[in-house]
Amino acid sequence: MCGIVGYIGHREAYPIILKGLKRLEYRGYDSAGIALYDGCDIKLSKTKGKVVDLEDKLLKEIPTVGSLGIGHTRWATHGVPNDVNSHPHYSNSGNLVIIHNGIIENYESLKTELKNRGYSFKSDTDTEVLINLIEDVMKNDNLKLGKAVQIALNQVVGAYAIAVFDKNKPNEIVVAKLGSPLAIGIGDDEFFIASDASPFIEYTKNAIYLEDEEMAIVRRGKDLKIRKIKDDSLVDPYIQELQINLEQIEKGGYDHFMLKEIYEQPSAIKDTYRGRMLVNEAIIKLAGVEDNMKKFLNADRIIIVACGTSWHAGLVAEYIFEDLARIPVEVEYASEFRYRNPVINEKDLVIAISQSGETADTLAAIKLAKSKGAFVFGVCNVVGSSIARETNAGAYTHAGPEIGVASTKAFTTQITILTLIALRLARAKGTISSSDFRLYLMELEMIPEKVIKALESEEHIKKIAEIYKTTRNFLYLGRGYNFPVALEGALKLKEISYIHAEGYPAAEMKHGPIALIDENMPIAVIATKKGHYEKVVSNIQEIKSRKGKIIGIVTEGDVSVRELADHVIEVPETLEALSPLLTTIPLQLLSYHIAVMLGKNVDQPRNLAKSVTVE
Ligand code: AGP
Ligand code: GLU
Repeated sequence: MCGIVGYIGHREAYPIILKGLKRLEYRGYDSAGIALYDGCDIKLSKTKGKVVDLEDKLLKEIPTVGSLGIGHTRWATHGVPNDVNSHPHYSNSGNLVIIHNGIIENYESLKTELKNRGYSFKSDTDTEVLINLIEDVMKNDNLKLGKAVQIALNQVVGAYAIAVFDKNKPNEIVVAKLGSPLAIGIGDDEFFIASDASPFIEYTKNAIYLEDEEMAIVRRGKDLKIRKIKDDSLVDPYIQELQINLEQIEKGGYDHFMLKEIYEQPSAIKDTYRGRMLVNEAIIKLAGVEDNMKKFLNADRIIIVACGTSWHAGLVAEYIFEDLARIPVEVEYASEFRYRNPVINEKDLVIAISQSGETADTLAAIKLAKSKGAFVFGVCNVVGSSIARETNAGAYTHAGPEIGVASTKAFTTQITILTLIALRLARAKGTISSSDFRLYLMELEMIPEKVIKALESEEHIKKIAEIYKTTRNFLYLGRGYNFPVALEGALKLKEISYIHAEGYPAAEMKHGPIALIDENMPIAVIATKKGHYEKVVSNIQEIKSRKGKIIGIVTEGDVSVRELADHVIEVPETLEALSPLLTTIPLQLLSYHIAVMLGKNVDQPRNLAKSVTVE
């Protein structure tokens, strides 16, 4: 995810683009860049770092004149954040320049073809491949930019919101969208382009949101034409009148980043498996795993190190790795592991999980494991982060920036990528049949739709939150794959509502926590159909006998738990191993709404920080 801005009209483009990028920094902030047309040529400046760093550098490097320009604030997916990989990117001739939000999945094969035709590449990005593909089409068929963009995009697999201009045609910007957002602000003889409307809200309230597979050529002083990328048919532009304020826009209309990120999970999960899971071919492709397959297959055991929510994702992974790939797994708090002189050697494979990639304890655990000869694989969200650099290999989750301190989409995307790794290893080891493998892929592909379904319970969950918002304590119970989800549910509630909550394996309850249960104790029990359903129902009976208040997280259509519980929240059915991706959703919403009702600072809870860079 990243932010894109463009302007063409009668004003100076630079201040509009710069301010726009600052507003879009919530979408990514590892590097930034601006390209302006100064009347003769393209003037471009870009840098690793935030938009303020760009501002300093740009003012020294280029004149800030011109009424046509594009800008980008990056959240890297392909290539570490550095000056060269920052956007905008030139084509080989230097005539074209592009900004891009998204991922070009087939960039490798396109890059090879372009290299064979003499193109060279400065950056590691997928975006530079796209701009050269456009140039190649343009040259070969002697086409105008708009047509060349259209033909090139028809060869591309992936997601994009792009803006491109040609220095030889400095009266137009070509934009296109598939999967990533793109808004066009329509002023008087001027157009604004942006990932959301925040960069242009003070200039115009009229906007068009491009739909997927649409493109437009915005021309100075001309009407806007929108076309379908596939068949070139014209689309009637639907101009909306914006009735929102700036803050709302940055949060995409949501009240908090946390809620926005909860709702981003369907697309974030898709972004995690996009291009890596080919369902029809029954293939999983993960470069970091393929390149190191021997290390994985020869490892005596896998040790997972992480903190907080990432540690919970590690616990889910323990179940799935052992279950499917039959590899012994240990999951460790990085903070304990690093200080306890663990027995570890070159036959161990360590997986470090971290959203931020900056957690000090996880980083130290990695260094310790490496010093003892272990191979360390990283699962990070932030591209180019310290952990991503420190590990021997890895896989990114591609969840997009997570701003809310309470981790939500990071958790479900970590589970998604770890599931892909486990499945890939299971296939390589022959511990899963080809039909089961295919079934897992098909089910995983359906998870985003099922998450959408699970999100539909929000209003019902709000009512439950209203009933329990004043409680002092909360218990969360689950078994098997859903035991870590119980821990995660409790952590979410604790950190944003400051209500004491504990997660337990449901069967452990009778070894202590059952003493806490009375008519004032709410207990969320994950009781989905697959897995240990009957056992969990018995645990629910035990709670019921002690008058505890039961909130059952159940599979759609469930009858038994409904009879016993005070409330049930349904989630769609899926394979047991994938159920955490669904059962987590209502627990996130429950804690969110309780915290909101209590008036807490949901996005920035007290005493916490998004990245814990101290031990
Ligand atoms: C989750 O809601 C927390 N805020 C916290 O536990 C977090 O997961 C932990 O600090 C680990 O962070 P990381 O994934 O960035 O390493
Ligand atoms: N794939 C592009 C890159 O890594 C764009 C990333 C984005 O959308 O954040 O540069």
